[in-house]
Amino acid sequence: MLQLTWTTEAPTPVGDQLLAVAMRDAPSPDTFDARFGKPVREAATAARFTGKHGETFSFTRVDGEVFERVVLMGAADLADPSQLRSFAHDAVRLAQSAGVARLVIDLRATLAGAMPWAGGDPAAVARAGDLLAQGCELGSYAYERFIAEDKRARRSVREVVFVADDTGPAEGTARGQIIAKSVARARDLVNGPAGLVTPTFLATTASNIVASLQDEHEVAITVLDRDECLARNMGCFLGVAQGSDEPPKFIHMSYKPHGPSKGRVCLIGKGVTFDSGGYSLKPTDGMLDMKMDMAGAAAVIAAFEGAAKLHLPWEVHAIVAATENMVSGRAYRLGDVLVASNDKTVEINNTDAEGRLTLADAMVYASKLQPTMMLDFATLTGACMVALGPKIAGVMSKDDRLAEDWLGAAARVGEAMWRLPLPDDLKEQLKSKLADLKNTGERYGGAITAGLFLSEFAEGCRWLHCDIAGPAMASKPYGVTTVGGSGFPVATILEFLT
Ligand code: BES
Ligand code: MN
Ligand code: ZN
Repeated sequence: MLQLTWTTEAPTPVGDQLLAVAMRDAPSPDTFDARFGKPVREAATAARFTGKHGETFSFTRVDGEVFERVVLMGAADLADPSQLRSFAHDAVRLAQSAGVARLVIDLRATLAGAMPWAGGDPAAVARAGDLLAQGCELGSYAYERFIAEDKRARRSVREVVFVADDTGPAEGTARGQIIAKSVARARDLVNGPAGLVTPTFLATTASNIVASLQDEHEVAITVLDRDECLARNMGCFLGVAQGSDEPPKFIHMSYKPHGPSKGRVCLIGKGVTFDSGGYSLKPTDGMLDMKMDMAGAAAVIAAFEGAAKLHLPWEVHAIVAATENMVSGRAYRLGDVLVASNDKTVEINNTDAEGRLTLADAMVYASKLQPTMMLDFATLTGACMVALGPKIAGVMSKDDRLAEDWLGAAARVGEAMWRLPLPDDLKEQLKSKLADLKNTGERYGGAITAGLFLSEFAEGCRWLHCDIAGPAMASKPYGVTTVGGSGFPVATILEFLT
C-alpha cells in the first residue's frame, strides 16, 4: 500500500520525485508563468496541451540544487468519477515509469482551476479522495504470479502527496485503499488460470479471508461439498459439476455488523472456474478466456472482505456455487432433466448455458436466508456483450427502486451499467414439453431470457441480476482497468452497501 497524504502547502522538492500538476485548461500567462516560466508555457502550448483528460506535457527543471521532474496532466473532467480515478492512476503510472519514490499531485486552483468537489458536501468531498486513492493504488496493479521476480514491473513509488486548497478529501483515503485492495483481489482471482483457481482454490481463498477478519469482525464461513449439496437437492448445480474431476464447492460467507444492521443482503456470484461449454462445446476462440467465468464469484468474495473492513452496516452473505463446466464420460447431456433445490425441473437444451443452473440453486439457498434483497453477479451471456459492448454491464430487476439505487451507486463510482427489461412474454421461449423450464431460449434476447430464467428462482425475494460478461475482463486497457480481470463491480457493491 502507498502512503497517501493531503496538504495545502507543496512539500520542498526532492530529486527523487515527480510533480504532477492537474490542469483543467491550457496554461495561462497570469498563473503559470510565475511558477514555471514563460518558455514552458510556450512549449506546452506549442505541443497543443489544452488540459483534456489523457493529455500530458513533461519537462524537467533545476531549482537551485534540485532537479525536478514535472508533468502537466489534463484534468478537464475530474467531475466524472471514472476520470477522477483514472487521473490518479495515470499519475502513479507515470511516476512508476520515472522510477521515483514520491509523487506529488498538485490540485490547487491557482494552476488547476477549482476542483469540482470544492465546496461540496463532506460525503462528496470524501468520495473524491476515495476515488483518487483507488486510482493511485490501482496504478501499480499487475498480475505477476507467473512472472520471474527480476522481470516484474518496477514499483518505485512509496508515497503520494496531494497538494490542494482543501484537505477534506483525505477523509476518503483509507476507504479508497480498502476498495482498491478488494478490486485487486477480485482481479487476481480472475487472472489466475483455471488450473490454479479451481473451486477448491476459491473455497480456500474465502476461508482465508474469513480467518483474517475473524479477530475484529463477526464473520463465518460454510463450505458444502458434493455430498452436502446432494443432501440439499441442488440438482442443477450438481448437474453442471458432474462432468468435472475438480470437486465442486458451495461457498457461503457471512458478516454481521457490530452496530445495528440495516438488513440482510445476499451477494451471489457465478463461480464457473472454467467454462468449456460442456457437450455444447465452445470453439477455441470462445473458450480462450473462460477462466474468467468466475468473475462474479471473485467480485462477491472480494467485496465481502471490503464490506467487513469498511464496517458496513448490513449483514452480508456472499454465496458461490463453484464448479467447472467440463466434458467427460460423466458430464451432463443435452436432453437431460435436472431438478433444482426448489423442485423445479429443467430440460437441458444447451450445456453451455450452465451459469444459470449453478445460480438457480445458489438463489434458492439464498432465499432461505430470507434476505432483505439478493443481488447476483455473473458472466452470464455473450448476448449481453452483443447488446451493450465490452465495457457495460446489463442490470435486470423487477424492482424499480432496487434497480435505481443500484444504478445510482454505479454512477457515483464510475462503473458503467445499463438496465435491460424483463418482459414476461419472453418466458414463452423457456417453455419445455418435458419439464418446468428449458435452460435456454432463442438467439435474440439471450441476456434477457437468461435473466427471466433466474427470476424463476428468486422465490419472492427483492432481487437484482447483473450480467458482467463484458466488463469483467478487458482485452485493451482503459481507465484504471488493465488487460485481464477488471474487478468490476466490486466498487459499486461497496458503494451500494454504504
Ligand atoms: N460464460 C458464458 C458467457 C460468456 C461469454 C461470458 C463470453 C463472457 C464472455 C456462458 O456460460 C455461456 O456460454 N452462455 C451462452 C448462453 C447460450 C448457450 C444461451 C452464450 O452466451 O453463448
Ligand atoms: Mn457457458
Ligand atoms: Zn459460463
